[in-house]
Amino acid sequence: MAARTMDLPRRGRGDEVGWVERWSMGFWDEPQGAAIFKHATLKGYASTYASKTGKFSTGHRVALVDCYAGQGWYDDESPASPALLLQTAEELGKRDVHCWFVEADPGTHRTLKARVAKSGAAGSATVLEGDIADHLPTILGQIGKQPLLVFIDPFGIGLPFEQLIGLLARDKGGSDRSPTEVLLTFVHAGVHRQGPKLRLLTDPIASESQRRNAEATIRRLDQNLGGDWWHDIVDAPDFVARVRREYLNRVLAAAGVQWNCISVPVADSRGGRSIYEMVLFTRHPQGLWFFNDAVSLARRVFEDHVDPDRPLTLFEPEEEWVAIIKANLKRLLSKGQPLRVIDHIDDVFGETLGYARGKHVKEAAKHLAAEGFNAGSVKVDPHKLVVVPRTATKTA
Ligand SMILES: C[S@@+](CC[C@H](N)C(=O)[O-])C[C@H]1O[C@@H](n2cnc3c(N)ncnc32)[C@H](O)[C@@H]1O
Repeated sequence: MAARTMDLPRRGRGDEVGWVERWSMGFWDEPQGAAIFKHATLKGYASTYASKTGKFSTGHRVALVDCYAGQGWYDDESPASPALLLQTAEELGKRDVHCWFVEADPGTHRTLKARVAKSGAAGSATVLEGDIADHLPTILGQIGKQPLLVFIDPFGIGLPFEQLIGLLARDKGGSDRSPTEVLLTFVHAGVHRQGPKLRLLTDPIASESQRRNAEATIRRLDQNLGGDWWHDIVDAPDFVARVRREYLNRVLAAAGVQWNCISVPVADSRGGRSIYEMVLFTRHPQGLWFFNDAVSLARRVFEDHVDPDRPLTLFEPEEEWVAIIKANLKRLLSKGQPLRVIDHIDDVFGETLGYARGKHVKEAAKHLAAEGFNAGSVKVDPHKLVVVPRTATKTA
């Protein structure tokens, strides 16, 4: 499969780039809508990733690294990313999952460390204080060839570009591979607010300290975005969207042809402006497939959070999704070739990507079977489905 970026279809105002002044309004008070979606996606996908990769790894070991860990639990006791990864480690009894948490802020690190110690799962975690850029080489040295899922969730744009590419380079494919995937949040405000500081460098009325501050910000952005290419577009009206697209393309180009990413806009409210994107980098079709499943299920958790009294039919137009997927399958099958659905995820799901999931593909395949297509065994997992055109069925 050629490298590509799969952007989820945007609905409502999701395509507009915006942000909410949320960092300053008590980030750790309780999770807001976007965090509910983010955490449900992380939990769902980390569980699948650890379960699948740990099935065949030495000692069934799997490493989950939360690079920008935060305090672990919200002040209202809701689980944040470290708590969810620890739950994953506890739930997967047949896998030896170890979590690595890195937090730079000393106070937040103290809180995290104390909470992890009290959690009953302390044996499954290493909690480190400091900059992830400094800790990552040691962590990678310690985990050796274990399958690795890295979660990068900064307030801005995280991890130096070269380090991110180095992480992806760990997974070389073939028999000697170290399975590696990276899930990162691309925070719009990290670009929208920080990028324009570029202007301060040439502003005659900027103070010396403003200029020094701006220089440090620009240096960090250059380092994390992989160069100063973004300086030329800082005045573009769609600055953030262009930076995101170019950044993802640059990561994929540097990572190599087999890498893909899927980018999911995340908002605090239904139909609201996306405040960040959750981006999965993977070189495996199953990564894309199961991440989409996790996103689809997380959307239900999000809908329940933003509108607990919603009538189900309004937000679960499953029949419509199945009909769309069925039409997509028919169109793809009109080329006359058998179709392994996992090789054509974006074409199979089409506009339902990130909304529908594997079970809807299977349902669509069942409808096709009723029309005389060979849709494979009904017992097979959805991602293993191969659908065969009618003419091929007749001649088979
Ligand atoms: C958005 S919060 C993390 C939220 C958390 N991942 C969750 O979902 O519950 C970002 C955290 O990264 C920490 N941080 C910032 N720069 C860091 C760095 N260079 N290395 C490690 N942690 C850092 C901040 O102190 C903050 O607690």
